Formats: sequence, structure tokens, C-alpha cells
Amino acid sequence: MSKKSGSYYTPESVANFMVSYMRDKYYSTNQGLKVLEPSCGDGVFLKALSNNFVDTKLIVEAVDLDKSAIEKVTPLLDTFHGVYKVTNADYLEWCFKHDVRYDFIIGNPPYISKKLLTEEQRENCRKIHSQNTEFGREIHNIWTAFLCDGISRLKENGAMAFVLPAELLKVKFGEKIQRALLKEFQRVEVFTFSKNVFPNIEQDTIILFLFKNSKEQGLYFTTIDSSSCLIKRKFRLKRKRSLEAMKLKWSAYPLLEKHINKITHIKKCLPPILSYCETIPGIVTAANDYFIASKSVVDEFELGGISTPIVQKGVFVNGCVKLSKEKFNSLVEGGKPAFFLDLSKADLANKKHQNYINIGTQRKIDQRYKCTLRDKWYEVPGAWVPEGFFFKRCHDYPKLIFNDADALVTDASYRIKMKGEYDIRSLIFSFYNSLTLALSEVQGRYYGGGVLELTPLEFKSLPIPYMSINEEMFNEFVESFHKKKSIQDVLADNDEVLLINHLGMSRGDVASLREIREILMARRLSISKSQFS
Ligand SMILES: C[S@@+](CC[C@H](N)C(=O)[O-])C[C@H]1O[C@@H](n2cnc3c(N)ncnc32)[C@H](O)[C@@H]1O
Repeated sequence: MSKKSGSYYTPESVANFMVSYMRDKYYSTNQGLKVLEPSCGDGVFLKALSNNFVDTKLIVEAVDLDKSAIEKVTPLLDTFHGVYKVTNADYLEWCFKHDVRYDFIIGNPPYISKKLLTEEQRENCRKIHSQNTEFGREIHNIWTAFLCDGISRLKENGAMAFVLPAELLKVKFGEKIQRALLKEFQRVEVFTFSKNVFPNIEQDTIILFLFKNSKEQGLYFTTIDSSSCLIKRKFRLKRKRSLEAMKLKWSAYPLLEKHINKITHIKKCLPPILSYCETIPGIVTAANDYFIASKSVVDEFELGGISTPIVQKGVFVNGCVKLSKEKFNSLVEGGKPAFFLDLSKADLANKKHQNYINIGTQRKIDQRYKCTLRDKWYEVPGAWVPEGFFFKRCHDYPKLIFNDADALVTDASYRIKMKGEYDIRSLIFSFYNSLTLALSEVQGRYYGGGVLELTPLEFKSLPIPYMSINEEMFNEFVESFHKKKSIQDVLADNDEVLLINHLGMSRGDVASLREIREILMARRLSISKSQFS
């Protein structure tokens, strides 16, 4: 497995399923079949094609950048049924020199993030994307170019099957691609997995089947619980008409149609968080383990006069809705790195300060890219104390916290600055309800291990039933929050006040929102371990 080459090979059983499924669904004549595998690796799909199309005139073109993989696959080709041409090349260049159309394109393209691609590769990806305006010009990962190019070289009634990262369902750029797929294909099938199919892979994966023509049109989803369900074809595809209408991104697929319609309606009626506040990412130090220190380091280097409280991680404030001075002190006493060192105010005549700065240069922190952009490498810009903060990642539920300890936050959080007459206490109180938390699950994205992440835009666009409360009510809320056993108990109380009394929602609607949150959380938290081997 390599991040740079994006080489996560497909298990033979999965490749065999994909080819045989396409054969049974798509291939109805005995005419020849022209197939492309754009990144063939050790040839698992070529073997599956040979095994599954024994009575067909098969012509297969395959490409891979990795010479050693090609050398492994070439000797096998003589034993395969069909005619194979395998080329060692960068597909991003190969594709511009070959103007051939295919009946069938299959594979598991590389997943390589933009920052690991060469400048030429990025430019080629952009060029490929420009063939299909829906894909957008911005490149995030190489796989989108493989998908985009594949679509453009399918015959009129061609079909495609790709293993892809599940980010297609969840992220902003994925939404554009979703739209493109619905335009280009009459039938789209998405196979998701309740457990990762591939061992040692960080991202969860989907299989995407795309049919240019189909009698039974639409967007279909299924979730595979185990390898045998896939291989024995024990699954049921469900059509999601509301997602065909692009009401929500495809990560909402586990929800029922009535749920999706409800969410769409709420999003139209209720103002988002950005109506009440601005959100600005926390400070970027470029070296948290240097610029953020524990009390003992602060004391050792006499840095007390230039240090400010800071909360570095969400886990430090689990179960809190207010960061009080007492809570902050407990972090300090627990030895947590809880002080931001503003070295721009260091006293260079103080030997200990000078020593601390020297440690930074010895550790080559001054050479880190972000530090080189500063006038003095140790001057961290933008250190201001927010009224509240939101951790961009969470496990059980998103955390919006009142800052009563005058603490700074790192870029693990978004800083909250209230607008006009609105106040932070009311915002925080109004945030904790089943509607806003259900929408966090819908709008956010999750990674292996079940971590939920909201980008600044996703957070800002969360609908919130903002209700103005006074300080006394907030203090009661904080106290009961800290006493409650679970977030469900907090939500039960706040749903009553915010959703039923303030918004006038029915109990049935509130129950639906809880169900939405539970369905999506179950989906998010189930993705952790590999089941295939
Ligand atoms: C995810 S692996 C899949 C390999 C094979 N299709 C399979 O399913 O087992 C991706 C493959 O893409 C190849 N690759 C990476 N960048 C490429 C590029 N620019 N052009 C062609 N192949 C590339 C890697 O060498 C690797 O074999």
C-alpha cells in the first residue's frame, strides 16, 4: 500500500463480483466487447474479465504507471482468454493520445491527493476535468480525473464499474460529480459497505456501477454487510428519488424519502448559524508541540508573562458546554499543554526565553513553511480570544462551547464572533437540539473510525432554532448539561423548549429528527474494521 502511488489492490473476490455483475446486467449480445482498465496494477480485473467472458470476443486495453506491476501481469496474458494490450504509462498522458471508445470501463483508480501529484499531473487532471464542466476545474484527488475521462470514452450504451473512495458521497466537490453522473447515466448504482472492504485502507470505499442505458432507470443504493453478501449477491438495491433531485448530497442515502423531504423543508425555513455569527478558524501555530506548552515548561523557561490559556483538543473539554476557569485549571493541573506562548513578546535579555527560542531553531521549526512566511518565525499571527468555539471534529456529537476562561483555540476549532444583537449564550443553548445535530450528521463528512467533521461552510450553514435566553437560563443549562448522563438527555429537554415550544414542531416531527440522527450516526460509527481478507 502506498499513498503516493494510490495502490490499494482490489481483492480478487471483489473484482470477480464486479465483472460478473456487469456481465449479467449489461452484456446481452454475443458481439465483441472492448474494455478499458486504466490503472490495472497486478491485473486482478484482467483475470476476472478472462474468467467471466469465456465465450466472448474480448479486447482489453490496460494501463498502469507502475512498471513492476506491468512486468508481473504481462507473462500472465498468454493464459488469459481474449486480446490484451497492456501499457506502462501515466494514464493522465496516455488518455490524450488515445481516442478510442469502449463498451465497458472497469477498475480501481488510484487515490492520490492533489498535494502528492506532480505539477504536470495536476495540469492534466484540470485538462481532463475541462471535458466535463460539471466536474469543476478544481482538483482534489487524481481519481476524479480517471472517472471524468472514463465517462467521456464510453460508447453510447456503455457501462462503467469503479471502486472509489466514499468521499464521492460526502464532500463538496463530490456533489458536483454526483450531478454529472446523474446527467450522463440513466442508471447509477452505489454499493456502500458497513465495514471497510480493503484491509489497511484509511478511507472507506464504494463500488459505483454506471449504465448509459437502462430500462430501470434511477439512482440506487445498497449497503453490503459482509464479503459473502456481496459475492453471493445477497443485497437489495433501493431507489432514492429525492437524491436524484439533488435535494441533499448522497451521504444521506441511509435515510427514508420522508426524512429527506423533511430535512429539505427545514433547510428552506430555518435560518442557518451564519445569520447569527461569524466563524473564523483558530490560530495556526505551525508547531503546536512547541508553541503550546504545559505549566511545567512555562515555569521552567519563565514564560508565564507571555503565555495565554489555550484549548488544543476537543477531548480536553469532553462533556462540557462551558469552558470555566475551574475546568481550565483542571487541564493545567493534569499536565496538559494548555498555554500558548506568545514568543513575539519574549524578553531576549532573559536567558531562559532565549534558550526556548534556540530550542525552536535546533528543532528546525523556523524552517517550517508557515514559519518562513512570518516576519519573525516565532510570531504567531491572529491570536485573539473568541466568545465561543466549535470543534471541527467530534465523535459522539458536535461541540459548541462557551469560552469563560478567556482561552485561545487552535485551528482544530472555529472561533465564534457574534453578529449584531445576538449573543453567544443563546447561540450555544439553541445549538443543542435534535434538529441541528441531525443536520450536522447530514451536512458533515465522516472518516474511518467514525469521526464526524464539519468544514467552516458546513458548520455555518447548519439550521438553528435560535432563541434568546438570559444568563440565568444559560447557567441552568450549563449545570444540567454537566449533570446529564448522555447527550440524549440534554436533547430531550432542549427539544421540548426549542423545537416544540419555540418552533411549534409536532412530537412526531421531533421523533423523526431523532431517528434521522440515529440512522446517520449508526452508519458513521459502524465504519471501523476490515471484514474482507
Ligand atoms: C488502487 S490501485 C488498483 C490497481 C488495480 N486496478 C486493482 O484494482 O487491484 C491503483 C493503481 O493505479 C496505478 N497508478 C497510479 N497513478 C497512475 C497513473 N497516473 N496512471 C496510471 N496508473 C496509475 C498504481 O500503480 C496502482 O496500480
